[in-house]
Amino acid sequence: MPATEFNQPLTLPCGQVIKNRFLKSAMSETFATHGHPNQQHINLYRSWANGGAGLLFSGNVMIDHTALGEPGNVVIENDEDMAILKQWAAAGTENKTQFWMQINHPGKQSYRSLSKEPVAPSAIGFEGIYATVFNRPRALTRTEIQQLVKKFTNTAVIAQKAGFTGVEIHAAHGYLINQFLSAKDNQRHDEYGGSLTNRMKFLLDIYRSIRAAVGDSFPIGVKLNSSDFEPGGFSEDESIQVIKVLSQLGVDLIEISGGNYLNPAMSEGTDKNSNAAFFINYAHKIKKLTTTPIALTGGFKDLKTMTTAIENQDTELLGIGRPMVLFPDLPNRIMNNQFSNVKLPRLKTNIKLIDDNAGPLIANSYYEQQMACIASGKQPKYSTNGWPPLLRLIQQHGISGLMPRRVKKYNHSSEEE
Ligand SMILES: Cc1cc2nc3c(=O)[nH]c(=O)nc-3n(C[C@H](O)[C@H](O)[C@H](O)COP(=O)(O)O)c2cc1C
Repeated sequence: MPATEFNQPLTLPCGQVIKNRFLKSAMSETFATHGHPNQQHINLYRSWANGGAGLLFSGNVMIDHTALGEPGNVVIENDEDMAILKQWAAAGTENKTQFWMQINHPGKQSYRSLSKEPVAPSAIGFEGIYATVFNRPRALTRTEIQQLVKKFTNTAVIAQKAGFTGVEIHAAHGYLINQFLSAKDNQRHDEYGGSLTNRMKFLLDIYRSIRAAVGDSFPIGVKLNSSDFEPGGFSEDESIQVIKVLSQLGVDLIEISGGNYLNPAMSEGTDKNSNAAFFINYAHKIKKLTTTPIALTGGFKDLKTMTTAIENQDTELLGIGRPMVLFPDLPNRIMNNQFSNVKLPRLKTNIKLIDDNAGPLIANSYYEQQMACIASGKQPKYSTNGWPPLLRLIQQHGISGLMPRRVKKYNHSSEEE
């Protein structure tokens, strides 16, 4: 019975069709070699494409080699990787699967092991534990902002040329575009800061510029926070306003998520005791306000929650991340009635200080390890042992990159042009 619901094709405003309601949400693979995609990317996405999802998003691909979100990110700035990009796109589009490249710039959420001086709308550093792993950013100049719009566009055009069937602009999770949207992070006094209209200008400039370059029939999606869930941050009301504008501009898909590194609602939701899909109430609300297709991502672990979300028309697409790592063929299992629920492992080192402070980092590292397993033809390994992913983190960033250090108190000053 659910198979019929999930099997419904979805036609996007641009006219392209997604064959069913399963979206494999973006998960940074972190195995690029100096920014270049490789055979592992091809293998991993071939596996997902044959697992039955209608739409796959790549892990976030960086638009600028000087600004990485994680070690091992793919970076696309020119045609030099065109041959391997074509193979990657071909693998991800097997089985009539849509495969979109997610494009991103981390802004200040770039580890200090990767960026000595990250950039952001304003020079506002992290507070608390994350001030130890991220350096304080400097404010972008207006000229640099305009250059970044071109860089986003450039990466999208290369994706299209390589055979990706769409792009998703990452405007969520506290990365650069989200920082522009947030009144807490964006304290600029020029046309990119102040009112919400100004704070969304960077995102809209990127969308319009990409649309002009890729044409009307190429899908463009946006991943947006329902809220940053922090005082003074991008709020639910503001998110609704942004969705209304994006819809008017003709965006093809809005993927709903929430939170940032400080408030990791994207991976924990807002109520740890609830089994509901994350942000479902918000999705329910916005479905009444827009006709743009919605993808709701986060917390889909059981068949009942998925079925209800589609039947109630709270979302058009079910965005699924971690369960798709544990079971790359999850959509096929569901459509063949071979799935009821998945339990995500709770990764622990059993050292409270580490588990309390580095829990989300360790969990992400675990899923990155499992993606590497799939990419090398092995089965993912279910485990709750937090030590292997922690050791991997230390290998990637060096012990000093993760250790607490003395943090200066910074004033929230705006240094933009
Ligand atoms: C290892 C890992 C890497 C991720 N990388 C990205 C990313 O590159 N871009 C993004 O938008 N979200 C990223 N996410 C978040 C997922 O897309 C998704 O929003 C989140 O995992 C919640 O969905 P789930 O409960 O189905 O896992 C990542 C999540 C994990 C576990």
